[in-house]
Amino acid sequence: MNTVLPLLEAPPRTLQLPDSAREGLARTPFGLYVHVPFCATRCGYCDFNTYTSDELGPGANRAEYAGTAITELRRAADVLGPDLPTVSTVFVGGGTPTLLPAEDLAAVLAAVRELFPVADDVEVTTEANPESVTPASLGTLRAAGFTRLSLGMQSAAEHVLAVLDRRHTPGRAVQAAREARAAGFAHVNLDLIYGTPGETDADWSASLDAVLAAPVDHVSAYALIVEEGTRLARRIARGELPLPDDDVLADRYVQADTVLRGAGFDWYEVSNWSRGDAARCRHNELYWANANWWGVGPGAHSHVGGVRWWNVKHPAAYAQRLAAGEDPVADSEVLEPADRALETVMLGLRLRDGLPLPALSDAGRLRAADAVARGLLDPAAHAAGRAVLTDRGRLLADAVVRDLTD
Ligand SMILES: C[S@@+](CC[C@H](N)C(=O)[O-])C[C@H]1O[C@@H](n2cnc3c(N)ncnc32)[C@H](O)[C@@H]1O
Ligand code: SF4
Repeated sequence: MNTVLPLLEAPPRTLQLPDSAREGLARTPFGLYVHVPFCATRCGYCDFNTYTSDELGPGANRAEYAGTAITELRRAADVLGPDLPTVSTVFVGGGTPTLLPAEDLAAVLAAVRELFPVADDVEVTTEANPESVTPASLGTLRAAGFTRLSLGMQSAAEHVLAVLDRRHTPGRAVQAAREARAAGFAHVNLDLIYGTPGETDADWSASLDAVLAAPVDHVSAYALIVEEGTRLARRIARGELPLPDDDVLADRYVQADTVLRGAGFDWYEVSNWSRGDAARCRHNELYWANANWWGVGPGAHSHVGGVRWWNVKHPAAYAQRLAAGEDPVADSEVLEPADRALETVMLGLRLRDGLPLPALSDAGRLRAADAVARGLLDPAAHAAGRAVLTDRGRLLADAVVRDLTD
């Protein structure tokens, strides 16, 4: 990877995209990500860039944050213009976006519409914590043009939620999904985590049953990752909690896939299931296809035409840069064609559609044939020229990706 700083000039620090990166702007799907770096409390397993204080300095306080994000959106339109790409997806993530008043999220979306051409069928998602939405706030979001709600449920077992430091009751996520549907959201997702210390097979069954009882058309199920530096990692290091067990994680995954499939959900990425293709998260698909997106907010990453950059991490530093009339970029890199090809393989292999065999290196294609023999890649798809994970391959997706890209 070629680490460079051609985008930054000091002072003032402004972002300039090379012509090579602009070339494909009009014909490549383009998405906007808006990061909201606030949470009421920090869950013990989470290492996202999020802060529990609502006073982080001028421009970075919760009350001012929407205005600060809109300032970056304006700069984005300036940098990408004059021939702006059409926005096909907007994703407001966190942190907990719904800690901001719904009117603030509506204002961010209105600014997107004012600054960019927006596709008629634009997908507009916000993440939400179950306890931070109400029928009224969901109604405001829906009226503002949000089309999709992604709720962090994690588990239906009270003791599992306690280990994860979640603040909502087991039933609240399902109730919030119902409220979202009543408010007119066509697409609602629930996030689950499996493999939490103390979670039993029965707990996981109950979580899956609860999801199926909710009016959702999308489910994300993630194996618990013990992130360094988190409270969960410290508790495990002290011996207070056991590490998630690999065999248990594999069993839970199979159970999720079986139950979800039985209820009409199909996987379309290793950790994501949808009821029909229209319910897929198009914003995430845009990431996995290595398309173009601009990430607004502290620590947010962007990618346009092989140039990647990321913003300063702390909300106060982020707001200061914008207040000084500078871009909030921390660093950038230009991806070599070989790096981009590698990323395409790493992301594409995790998809249900897989990827064309010619996308692999010569060595990768040889190993793909071996992976078919080992039952990890689908033989019929391979014969038709694609690398597609089998059910067993999905369980070992990370290892297959490593094997085919080494
Ligand atoms: C940014 S959080 C989402 C939204 C919201 N703040 C919430 O927690 O309800 C996105 C999702 O990432 C998943 N996640 C976060 N940290 C994780 C970890 N260490 N292991 C597995 N999944 C994790 C959770 O399922 C979470 O809902
Ligand atoms: S999981 Fe969600 S609510 Fe919990 S700390 Fe992370 S972003 Fe915040």
